[in-house]
Amino acid sequence: MNITKICCIGAGYVGGPTMAVIAKQCPDIQVTVVDLNESRINKWNDPNVENIPVYEPGLSGIVAEARGRNLFFTTEVDRAIKEADMIFISVNTPTKTYGAGKGQAADLKWIELCARQIARVSTSDKIVVEKSTLPVRTASTLKDILKHTGNNVKFQILSNPEFLAEGTAVDDLLTPDRVLIGGDQDAEGKQAIEALVNIYARWVPKERILTTNVWSSELSKLTANAFLAQRVSSINALSELCEFTEANIGEVARAIGTDSRIGPKFLKASVGFGGSCFQKDILNLVYIARSYGLNEVADYWEQVIIMNDHQKRRFANKIIKTLYNTVNGKKIAFLGWAFKKDTNDTRESAAIYVADHLLYEQAKIAVYDPKVSADQMYADLDYLNTRTVEENQLLVDVVQDPYEACQDAHAVAILTEWDEFKDYDWQKIYDAMLKPAHIFDGRNILDKGQLERIGFKVSAIGS
Ligand code: NAD
Ligand code: UGA
Repeated sequence: MNITKICCIGAGYVGGPTMAVIAKQCPDIQVTVVDLNESRINKWNDPNVENIPVYEPGLSGIVAEARGRNLFFTTEVDRAIKEADMIFISVNTPTKTYGAGKGQAADLKWIELCARQIARVSTSDKIVVEKSTLPVRTASTLKDILKHTGNNVKFQILSNPEFLAEGTAVDDLLTPDRVLIGGDQDAEGKQAIEALVNIYARWVPKERILTTNVWSSELSKLTANAFLAQRVSSINALSELCEFTEANIGEVARAIGTDSRIGPKFLKASVGFGGSCFQKDILNLVYIARSYGLNEVADYWEQVIIMNDHQKRRFANKIIKTLYNTVNGKKIAFLGWAFKKDTNDTRESAAIYVADHLLYEQAKIAVYDPKVSADQMYADLDYLNTRTVEENQLLVDVVQDPYEACQDAHAVAILTEWDEFKDYDWQKIYDAMLKPAHIFDGRNILDKGQLERIGFKVSAIGS
């Protein structure tokens, strides 16, 4: 089956970059990305390509190259679905905030709406691709909905989970470790798998394109995120032990990471992992395991989240304890708000929870982040509902200049590992701070020795 028109439902952090890269690599395929969110679509269409709504190194150049040629962004969802041979569903699948499974299960409302919309408007056969991260066996729900259209249209469902990480999305998409495609194992299913393999094979070596049955593919995505997050929680758990024993977590990570069976990546101790997916996907895994009565399996994975919450809380408590057990009225400068460097995404960022805890103790916080807007920071805090919107405005000051953030502060806390933080004039910052001047490096990116020579009192994670 030769695919000439693709539609992607959802113009978010996954839909936008993945489709931009497909459009770049396949100039003969028309790729239309649709979303209900008009303002988001307008930003993707902004004449100044630097204003697209997702910040990713290298992305604006790719959008500039393909947009208007074979890459389109629109709110005309029905038309794009109708025209397409292949439809990617890349909508959000957040943790449920109501009803059964509240706080754990994935909310599949948006996925189901997409399926119903596809069923309603389709007049020709289509391959529907799950790009969103979904609980294992979701494809059977989609099949059920799409089978009952009564209009003789045939649908094939594939699972093609996305493994890109934010901040490196373009590289991850251009040179992925692997692409995973799950589909039915009958002749028609295999044909659909082949159609999607042929798209990726234009730039991904064939041996890196793995094909499986649908259920393995769906479950592999949750499993990959669970394993990655587990590594972070494991190293963070040991970082606390390091702080009591004079071992150094950086040295421990290097020592274990050189064992080729363990490997060096994803062993950076931190203030805790954030991002829209690790927590939600593990909670979802926990929920699924419990729903099959597998309580030991559920408890095992839940511990990864418990450890991460502990790490965020521990970091905030360390600040309070070090500042003589009170931060009331004290200015604390936050460098970084994004959940990791090179992204403007703040979803589940550790900074939000550390700030919330310090604000609970009546601290005053001044935040600087090179990519996150003030509106986003206030929205993140307001969403927690811990205090009024006015109180958040009063206690948190968002500034455009890192030196201003640190002026007259009792302490600086590093929440995101932005490279620029390493190159600041730390002597100048020290001179402008109240003494003793404290630094809490939640990312272990600063040179502790150099800062101590300047006069700072430095607390790093795991040393
Ligand atoms: P997002 O919230 O940034 O984007 C989702 C978009 O879908 C939103 O703009 C929303 O308006 C739109 N949408 C929802 N329902 C719609 C509908 N019925 N019709 C049209 N548009 C609709 O989410 P995201 O970060 O892109 O994540 C999408 C999925 O990909 C999630 O399942 C997530 O777990 C998974 N994922 C995310 C990442 C990541 O790095 N963010 C990586 C891999 C996988
Ligand atoms: C993660 C996975 O890496 C992707 O493969 C996956 O596709 C994606 O989730 C998803 O499904 O959404 P992402 O969350 O964008 O990607 O970023 P990561 O690089 O994985 O970092 C996640 C969090 O862990 C960040 O807060 C980061 O600072 C933290 N982290 C990561 C550490 O604290 N230490 C590490 O060693 C690595």
